Amino acid sequence: MSKNTLTITDNRTGKTYEIPIENDSIRAIDLRQIKVNPDDFGMLSYDPAYLNTASCKSRITYIDGAKGILRYRGYPIEQLAEQSTYKEVAYLLLYGELPNAEQLEFWQNRIMRHTYIHEDLRHMIQNFRYDAHPMGILIGAVAAMSTFHPEAKNFDDPEIRQKQIWRILGKLPTIAAFAYRTRIGRPYNYPDSSLGYAANFLYMLDYMNQRDYEVNPVLAKALDVLFILHADHEQNCSTSAMRSVGSSRVDPYSAIAAAASALYGPLHGGANEAVLRMLTEIGNVKNIPGYIERVKKGEFRLMGFGHRVYKNYDPRAKIIKKIAHDVFEVTGSNPLIDIAVELEKIALEDEYFIKRKLYPNVDFYSGIIYQAMGFPVDMFPVLFAIGRASGWLAQWIEMIDDPEQRIARPRQLYLGEPMRDYVPVDQR
Ligand code: CMC
Repeated sequence: MSKNTLTITDNRTGKTYEIPIENDSIRAIDLRQIKVNPDDFGMLSYDPAYLNTASCKSRITYIDGAKGILRYRGYPIEQLAEQSTYKEVAYLLLYGELPNAEQLEFWQNRIMRHTYIHEDLRHMIQNFRYDAHPMGILIGAVAAMSTFHPEAKNFDDPEIRQKQIWRILGKLPTIAAFAYRTRIGRPYNYPDSSLGYAANFLYMLDYMNQRDYEVNPVLAKALDVLFILHADHEQNCSTSAMRSVGSSRVDPYSAIAAAASALYGPLHGGANEAVLRMLTEIGNVKNIPGYIERVKKGEFRLMGFGHRVYKNYDPRAKIIKKIAHDVFEVTGSNPLIDIAVELEKIALEDEYFIKRKLYPNVDFYSGIIYQAMGFPVDMFPVLFAIGRASGWLAQWIEMIDDPEQRIARPRQLYLGEPMRDYVPVDQR
């Protein structure tokens, strides 16, 4: 008869332990009883970069990396990208169900009513240096929001918590657009809440007082889908940062600033920026084989390839490749797309990439679309952050409402010097 337990024999002592299995996992704390001597600390599990450690139970996003499956609250990403909108997906991630018509209307209105930022925050954004990276501005401005809304730290109050969610989702595109306009030295456009989420963002970025200005609906739709695709991805680096920093019970603005900082790195949200730089450096289809050889020698990585979880094609990359065609019909083709398509083809046939299960990830094509839409490369991680904010918030709420969660505090294996006596400087 099968039992839901794991039997471990410690060959140092010959002792056997029976550990419960729940959801195909064991609790790391159950290992602590394994000791050689009664006063030992007990066995730890060592897992640098959390390759095989579940840090939480979650009901938000499901990924099967081997099969290339991504679902939000059970809904396949392909269906959401095709039929839903970013605001609806944000509601789904946060509250667990798709909204009915009335709930959706209320939700959309509340978010769009919170798109204006405090004028003092606008001044702060304006005071960054002319060449400040917009991601640095976004991180700084979001952190500063905690000083404008100090009540946010009382997030156990449901009304206060709810309001911060509307504020964050409403104001992030405004901060991002102002960061962009600061960078290019143009006056700011205040939000237009009669527009859709992505359309309003494009308007704030682009509008220059033209009489017949209209946001291109194809580009607004493409951006909305890109926000959906980036909305959540379970316990990735930035979401783990959100949960970890949020576990100290800091306000959500400070936690989002930490999550956005994690996203800024080139191995995470900065990868699409790195992809574009890489494609520009390759410059021509004929240079691809030489470039791939250098990747295989370990000189550098092929950016936009590989994923910690997907060991099959990233389902988001498939959808993005399709969107690229819609966007190029409006903007005209991006010359880098030919290099990207050929690079993908050659890499997917190469033993090095096949053996390591390296496929294009979400960032491989997104940068090319963003560039075709006119975004400078340093805005790419900012776009990622706007989409991911709903996921960060959903994961943060799940964490703070989870009675099993406490302040995040990993252990270490100390391998340094044993106790030794201080030596005065003249005797060293
Ligand atoms: N190009 C060439 N080789 C690679 C690449 C790559 N992009 N990615 C992994 N490898 C190799 C790596 O050198 C290693 O080879 P070996 O076994 O011979 O040492 C093997 O594949 C396994 O790599 P790993 O570093 O153990 O894999 P990981 O799960 O720690 O890293 C990753 C995942 C996404 C950080 C990595 O694949 C990478 O650096 N990719 C390029 C950056 C990128 O595109 N990041 C975007 C990720 S998706 C969006 C997001 O999460 O923000």
